[in-house]
Amino acid sequence: MSASLATVSYIGATILFILSLGGLSNPATSLRGNLYGMIGMTIAVLATVFGPRVTMAGIPWIIGAMVVGGSVGLYAARVVKMTQMPELVALMHSLVGLAACLVGFANYIDPAASAQLTGAEKSIHEIEIYIGILIGAVTFSGSIIAFGKLSGKIGGKPLLLPGRHWMNLMGLLVVILFGWQFMHSESVSAGMIALTVMTVIALLFGIHMVMAIGGADMPVVVSMLNSYSGWAAAATGFMLSNDLLIVTGALVGSSGAILSYIMCRAMARNFISVIAGGFGTGGGAPAAAKGSEQPAGEVVAVSAAETAELLREARNVIIEPGYGMAVAQAQHTVYEITQHLREKGVNVRFGIHPVAGRMPGHMNVLLAEARVPYDIVFEMDELNADFPNTDVAMVIGANDIVNPSAQDDPTSPIAGMPVLEVWKAKTSIVMKRSMASGYAGVDNPLFYKENNRMLFGDARKMLEEVFVALKS
Ligand code: TAP
Repeated sequence: MSASLATVSYIGATILFILSLGGLSNPATSLRGNLYGMIGMTIAVLATVFGPRVTMAGIPWIIGAMVVGGSVGLYAARVVKMTQMPELVALMHSLVGLAACLVGFANYIDPAASAQLTGAEKSIHEIEIYIGILIGAVTFSGSIIAFGKLSGKIGGKPLLLPGRHWMNLMGLLVVILFGWQFMHSESVSAGMIALTVMTVIALLFGIHMVMAIGGADMPVVVSMLNSYSGWAAAATGFMLSNDLLIVTGALVGSSGAILSYIMCRAMARNFISVIAGGFGTGGGAPAAAKGSEQPAGEVVAVSAAETAELLREARNVIIEPGYGMAVAQAQHTVYEITQHLREKGVNVRFGIHPVAGRMPGHMNVLLAEARVPYDIVFEMDELNADFPNTDVAMVIGANDIVNPSAQDDPTSPIAGMPVLEVWKAKTSIVMKRSMASGYAGVDNPLFYKENNRMLFGDARKMLEEVFVALKS
């Protein structure tokens, strides 16, 4: 493939990636967005593999690597459960970071990559390598810790080392100092020492940064690492002088940064405070740990038949799905019930909290899979004012996102986080297996409210029973 054809293909792929991002911003166009992305990526890979910079001798190696990588990816995509998606995404981010590090080191020791460079060009090349490895190492180790936290292998409690901000600042100063040494090193081996020290510090910084973030703030971390992986890819693009990789990395980096900002706003968090750590479960003591401070009131349990009765009498119903719906895979039964109620003239709508579940858009994906029409799915802000006019608010496997202590208790770890105000409905019904707390480890006073009912059991099983009772 000639250089000009490769350039044209790269421009085409870039346009498709931008169209893809645009399409993914709306459920109705997301399928088309995905398709654009897939076509763009196919063009990008073909134009790179058969482009002017790959020799014939290199092609079997690339194809071999693609077969191995593709098979692992295909296997992972087939076996991973929807609830494990965030962990998988975190692992993938770590691989982008690792690739940026490896490309950086390979680029530095490859004499062909820098032989002709002198003066400013050489300095720019070295800065690209240094910054690329720095971002890559932080992304790599941070994403591994995020994987551990999301999969429950590492506890969600933030690790708050004494003087942690000073440690981070010291780390930054040492990185700058070694950066200066790296730029002025006489030989590759001298430069390697500075590069290795910086990499170790960046790895430790990545671990420390994510370890210091509380469980409740993990959504922000996931999208932030998504952004970092984009910048790491862009840095790799600079090192390899690959324009498409620079543009693609910048697209991922900036969209991840925007998503992190949206997440912070949804959780009433300050972005800098989240990054500095200490927010989340450990920022305030989890309510469960406060011992005697049990929310006041009594828990009233109901049966599936009683739930069906409440639904049958309702005119307005709002369903609030959460992580438990994903675990139970209850979305199909939820939709069957929705269809049944709508046929009876009940106004059924879905209220989606921005951080419901374990990844951005988690609930929307599940509802789309069950073919719930988009026009009855609303964001939290669009529905919150309607709860006082709602007969039944049906909470399916959700907990933190419907916790009134976010508004009422300033000492709560989730204080300030906007929540779905289900307790303002005439009756709220919470479907979950026990009185256990949610992701943030906080007790939920909703369960004890006078107008609240608890339907205990696996969400799917209970909903199936409700559906049978509704039809009878
Ligand atoms: P959670 O607060 O985690 O509550 C989920 C509830 O589902 C649990 O209390 C659990 O109670 C119940 N549950 C689990 N399995 C169930 C089953 N099979 N059937 C019925 N219920 C089941 O979830 P949420 O309300 O969706 O809030 C999300 C939380 O995750 C927030 O704290 C958020 O910050 C955090 N988070 C979100 C993200 C993103 S990006 N969305 C990423 C990481 C973390 P039982 O055990 O009693 O059944």
